[in-house]
Amino acid sequence: MKTLIVYTSVHHQNTENIAKVMTEELEADIVPTVKAQPGMVAAYDLVGFGSGIYFGKHHKTLLQFAETLPAMTKNRAFIFSTSGDGKKKHHAALKETLVNRGFSIVDEFSCKGWDTWGPLKLFGGINKGKPDGEDLAGARAFARGLKNKP
Ligand SMILES: Cc1cc2nc3c(=O)[nH]c(=O)nc-3n(C[C@H](O)[C@H](O)[C@H](O)COP(=O)(O)O)c2cc1C
Repeated sequence: MKTLIVYTSVHHQNTENIAKVMTEELEADIVPTVKAQPGMVAAYDLVGFGSGIYFGKHHKTLLQFAETLPAMTKNRAFIFSTSGDGKKKHHAALKETLVNRGFSIVDEFSCKGWDTWGPLKLFGGINKGKPDGEDLAGARAFARGLKNKP
């Protein structure tokens, strides 16, 4: 299963750490969004899209990239994120764009990530040390599970 992972990770490399573990498990190709070309995705069976969450959505570079993708008919995608609260509800905007481009979303992964935004930095932030070993193991198990998804 030829897999590509496209990611943006600008705050503390939290999502990059998750992306690397998934890349290893899936023997995927990996590219930061700023270096990704829309035409690349057609060559893959499965494409992972991930970033930190900014104001309730994925990073704007990733959202904008998704909007430029050519319309697909049979492409499969998965979505991942790290955020202050670790919730998947933040995936809605990216999910909608990908579905509109013709992707089917096979699964989603999210976990908490170190967050020192704004006043939080005065106190050392929240979720310091995250993603931790347990989160990385969760990401690896998630990626392994993708291999058996229809
Ligand atoms: C400007 C800014 C806005 C953020 N907005 C949210 C948010 O709306 N919800 C949330 O749960 N976390 C939010 N976060 C926390 C980040 O999603 C979290 O730190 C994430 O792990 C960063 O990922 P990265 O290091 O891969 O960029 C925000 C962080 C920053 C710096």
